[in-house]
Amino acid sequence: MRTDFDIKNPKKKFKKTERVPPKGYDNANDFFEDMYMDENMIWMGQNTNHLHDDTIANAMIDAIRMKTYCRYPAPEGFSELKKLVLKDLGFEDEEVLLTSGATESLYLCMQALLTPEDNVILSDPGYFIIGDFANRFANEVRYVPIYDEKYGYKLTPDLLRENMDENTRMAILIDPLNPLGSSYTEDELKEFAEIAKENDIYLLHDVTYKDFAREHFLVENYAPGQTLTIYSFSKIFGMAGLRIGGVVSSKPIIDAIKNAVVNDLGVNIISQYGAIAGLKSKDVWFEDMRQTCFENQRLIKEMVDTVDGIFLPVYPSDANMMVIDIYDTGINPKDLSNYLIQKGLFTREGEYTSDEFGERYLRVSFSIPTEEIKIFCEEFPKAIEALRK
Ligand SMILES: Cc1ncc(COP(=O)(O)O)c(C=O)c1O
Repeated sequence: MRTDFDIKNPKKKFKKTERVPPKGYDNANDFFEDMYMDENMIWMGQNTNHLHDDTIANAMIDAIRMKTYCRYPAPEGFSELKKLVLKDLGFEDEEVLLTSGATESLYLCMQALLTPEDNVILSDPGYFIIGDFANRFANEVRYVPIYDEKYGYKLTPDLLRENMDENTRMAILIDPLNPLGSSYTEDELKEFAEIAKENDIYLLHDVTYKDFAREHFLVENYAPGQTLTIYSFSKIFGMAGLRIGGVVSSKPIIDAIKNAVVNDLGVNIISQYGAIAGLKSKDVWFEDMRQTCFENQRLIKEMVDTVDGIFLPVYPSDANMMVIDIYDTGINPKDLSNYLIQKGLFTREGEYTSDEFGERYLRVSFSIPTEEIKIFCEEFPKAIEALRK
């Protein structure tokens, strides 16, 4: 192999947020692969959902048996699936673009709609992949600190007003919010809609976790024509590895986004069969699954209340995850997550979702069987006592 070849590393304005790999690993991928390969690992680190029966799996197995995958799918997805997505959101006039996960939609929205003069508003803590994508096409991403009870641990309409200017082109509302599980009231969304309309701003409403919320509202209903609703099959449908999601918006916006499409030969056809089965059967499993999640977070809250120096900033969480604030114990969240891995529990340290507050918390997701939550509740206090400074 040639070793003197000069890789130029062309200077780009953007750079992917770097993640320091855990101790003992050269890179994050090897770490994730090890976690993934460990069949006994209790999976509380990715907000994925491990509570489904075989309904979705069986639909995909049938589709595989019929060798549906030998053909290319229709490039923009099955119309049945798009109709089911619209029905799930209660929309009629909007259009759906299906993509490889919500992630691809997030990227396409940024590429299609942002220009180099624009700035974009996102909360810290938040889901930073969205900020990374926006940063590739806009001048600036303004990360607004929201880790405070006085803001309800979310980007408020007032915070948006304070942080925007004439170049603000997009406000990102992750609702419910990864990592905290805070969510918006209908009145708050109406206020965001007014701000957006007055100032010609896009509202990117990422509703990936909407179905875990006690109540949920859609800002598209108040600012149609400038809202992008980001939809995922990864969480409530338990299909994270199948990589299917989409963006829903008015026709002119979806047409603009389609110009940016990379995956021009369509979305994985097996995933589409699974997604159709998931939406068609949702009424059957939905409420039980939510109740399990509510019970699981109640058990975690009960445990947290018995341990000195830790608390839940947001409870109940409206997502399938929550933040446990451990700052007063003096424990570094990374040390805690590494310790828990030794006990067979995969969780996420705060730095993954916050630059400014990552030292304060651990994120745990709880859409897993209750027996596993009980193991977590037994091990977590012991871990805190073992590491407490
Ligand atoms: C807020 C948010 N949006 C999007 C995604 C990614 O969704 P998908 O798996 O559909 O790409 C995640 C994943 O954790 C998320 O937290």
